[in-house]
Amino acid sequence: MSEIRDVTGAPTTGHVWDDDLGDFINQPPRWWMLGLFASALFVVIYWVYYPSVPVSSAGSYYKGTAGWTAIKEMEADTGEVDAVRGKFEAKLKGLTPAAILADKELTEYVKRSGKVLFGDNCAGCHGQNGTGTRTKDGLFAPILNDDDWLYGGKIDDIYTTIKGGRQGMMLAHKDMVSAAELDTLANAVAQGKPTSTPLFAEKGCIACHGADGKGIQAMGSANLTDKIWRFDSSVEGIKRTIQYGVNSGDPKTRVAVMPNFGEAGKLSDTEIKKLAVYVYKFGGGQADAPAVPAAPVVAAASAPADAMAPAAAAPEQKAK
Ligand code: HEC
Ligand code: HEC
Repeated sequence: MSEIRDVTGAPTTGHVWDDDLGDFINQPPRWWMLGLFASALFVVIYWVYYPSVPVSSAGSYYKGTAGWTAIKEMEADTGEVDAVRGKFEAKLKGLTPAAILADKELTEYVKRSGKVLFGDNCAGCHGQNGTGTRTKDGLFAPILNDDDWLYGGKIDDIYTTIKGGRQGMMLAHKDMVSAAELDTLANAVAQGKPTSTPLFAEKGCIACHGADGKGIQAMGSANLTDKIWRFDSSVEGIKRTIQYGVNSGDPKTRVAVMPNFGEAGKLSDTEIKKLAVYVYKFGGGQADAPAVPAAPVVAAASAPADAMAPAAAAPEQKAK
């Protein structure tokens, strides 16, 4: 028996508990009911318009009247992206790596779009973001986000490296040095002072590493004075490098091969240019013509020799 409550003025079902608790019969508001019917209608239309109901036989389904598929939608979306990219890509084609670098907008575009290219082709060896990948023998491939370069960090150097590949070569010296000589050389190199022993010149190391031991970029021969290491930098590790060389053909040689990406089909020239700019922008890229002349070395040279000693005594494991 329905009744109207005094307090609320709302009708109830007539069911009462505990003397005064009743069940209201409130109709949902009109707007709510309309919403409910509208959404029911929407479901029906949606089902008719889009692919919806699975058909039990042969994994098929009702295709919908709109002809919509996820692939078509994706193609439309990539079409939009390509239109935006096309503008930049067309520009990149005609420019040298240095010219791309000089254009702020293009450089920004390359920094953003180069990530996938680097990830797909380079990160496996150089690490995501160029941080290098380490094995127990040292770095598998050099770090690219620092300002230490084997082959040079100018934009054109980097481009040449990627386009043509690189492969440093150091002879195996195992038959050219006695155990004592090996020991002397390795210790001098470990301390970052290769030229402190006359053996460095006598054994021909200077031919590739330079008379000052600082390396020659055209050969990618390492700077042996900067305590930045590519391979195992323990005295034992350095002995191994000296004995068996790098890419020397000896079975125990260290291997260091940067693949040639300019070879037909590997990467397009535009992609290589993009990667050169991308790598340059990791932060280690070097300007073509320094705005300020190289700092005079007078101050460093006149400092007391032993000011450097503590650092030299504790060789730090840095890496190229
Ligand atoms: C198979 C491993 C491998 C892959 C893949 C690879 N690199 Fe290298 N990369 C190396 C090695 C090893 C070296 C050092 C070569 C040497 O020591 O002579 C090197 C050197 C370089 C250098 C010179 C560094 C310096 O200090 O001068 C640059 C720049 C470089 N790679 C960029 C790239 C880019 C960009 C890609 C992707 C297109 C790439 N590399 C893909 C192994 C690789
Ligand atoms: C034919 C040229 C050549 C000669 C000769 C040569 N080196 Fe090297 N050396 C290289 C190159 C190139 C590299 C860099 C390899 C690389 O990273 O691709 C290198 C790398 C090294 C390294 C590794 C540096 C690091 O960062 O891990 C050491 C140590 C070294 N050389 C010591 C010597 C000593 C000592 C001698 C003399 C006994 C010598 N080399 C003679 C070309 C040479």
